Formats: sequence, C-alpha cells, structure tokens
Amino acid sequence: MEFSVITIEKVESTQNYLIELSRKTELQEGIVINALSQFKGIGQFENKWESEAGKNLTFSLLLQPRFLNPASQFLLTQVLSLAISDYLLTQTDKPVSIKWPNDIYIGKKKICGILVKNQLFGATFENSFCGIGLNVNQEKFPPLPNPTSLFLETEKQFELNEVLKAVLENIGFRYNQLKSEEIEILQQDYMQRLLYKDIFASYIYKGREIEARIFDVNEFGHLLLEERNGNEICCELKEIIFTHNTISK
Ligand code: BTN
Repeated sequence: MEFSVITIEKVESTQNYLIELSRKTELQEGIVINALSQFKGIGQFENKWESEAGKNLTFSLLLQPRFLNPASQFLLTQVLSLAISDYLLTQTDKPVSIKWPNDIYIGKKKICGILVKNQLFGATFENSFCGIGLNVNQEKFPPLPNPTSLFLETEKQFELNEVLKAVLENIGFRYNQLKSEEIEILQQDYMQRLLYKDIFASYIYKGREIEARIFDVNEFGHLLLEERNGNEICCELKEIIFTHNTISK
C-alpha cells in the first residue's frame, strides 16, 4: 500500500483536519496527515490527547476498507494495534501489549493511543480515519494515568520520520493480512498480545469492583471475562475500567 505523508507544523487535531479535508475533496487511501504539534488533540471518550510539540508522533491515516463488512470493523482496530506493537517489539525487550481494545502498553504504562472513526455509506465502508498518538521522545509527562514514551523505555532518542516510516510499513503489512483474509493470524496475534489475558485482575465493571480473567474478544470486539465464580461477562467499551491490579493466585 502507498502512503503519502503530509507533514504540517501545527494543527488543532490531525483527526479533525483529515475529516474536514475528506469533506472538501476526494482523498486517496493512504493519505497521512502528520503534525509536529497538535494543540487540541482528541482522545477516546472525548478526552484530550496531550503531546509535547516536536517530540512525538501525532498523525491520522485514511483507510478505505471497502472490502470489509462493517460488522467486522473491529478487525481494523486489531490491524492498527498489532502494527504499532510489532514496531515497538523491534525496539525493546520489555513486555509490549495491547490493552483492550486498542491502547498500546509497555509494562503497565501507556505508550500509544489509537482513535478510529469509521464512516459508512449504507451497508458499505466508506472511510476509516485512523488517528495515532505514539509517545516517542517525550521525557516528562503531566500526571496523566500511566504514560510512557520510547525514550523513557529505551533511553534512546528516535528520529520521528524514521519511526513514522516503520510504523506505516507495519500498518501496510497488517492491512494486507486483512485484505487477504488472514483473519485467524490477526486474531491469534491480537489475543497473544492482550494485556492481562488469562490472569486474574481487578476491574470496575458497571461501577462494581470485580476480579476476573480475560479469556477472549469476540468478532464484534467485545471483551469476554470470567469472574472467580464462573460468571461470564461480555462487555462493551466504556463499561469497564482497568485498575491494573493483578492477582497472582
Ligand atoms: C486515546 O485516547 O487513547 C486515543 C488518542 C489518539 C490521539 C491521536 S494523535 C493523532 C490523532 N489526532 C487527534 O486529535 N487524536 C489522534
């Protein structure tokens, strides 16, 4: 897949910029809006995405997976989180994992956030706006929950353009797996990297603290957990909070 990267000095949010651009002109799949600085970055659940200017990757990529059934759109989330974790695994021996559904962690700290906005046209996929914020060279963070960067994990400085190139190549590779219907590989790799899979940890589920073990993610992207008493939970986004307390027994 061909990527064409447009780097801009400063923008409110690459995500909004790309969405606006797509309203005004016909865009080709693979266009990337990459910002050196974002002053109003958007995170999940209407959170802000804060990123120090010039230190990290903040970009939005346009995919047009018109071959994909919209019911399977979770596969795109898997493609992106696998591609980024593939890259991180080449840079560190520390444990890299995917916190359901699509945060990338090193150890118990978040290094990357992904925001996917899908546009459907009737029953077919039109556009998928894939926003990625990867912390690269930032050394200090505001007291947000658990942030880290490649610099903090490896004590090395990275060339942002090289990181972007490698991440895009990986996205191209994983996206091709999706196109060529290598779904089982994507699902297997995703499950293998899932944070706290098969171990008991505590969560806040619908406001109540539970101890449960993640055992699967279904095709719609719902997280499946089993409580100690065998009760199974199938949960959607926003219904669960990870406390990051794992229980060894
Ligand atoms: C999250 O909350 O974990 C998702 C964060 C996504 C941030 C990226 S940075 C590039 C793109 N532009 C935005 O405004 N947000 C996404």
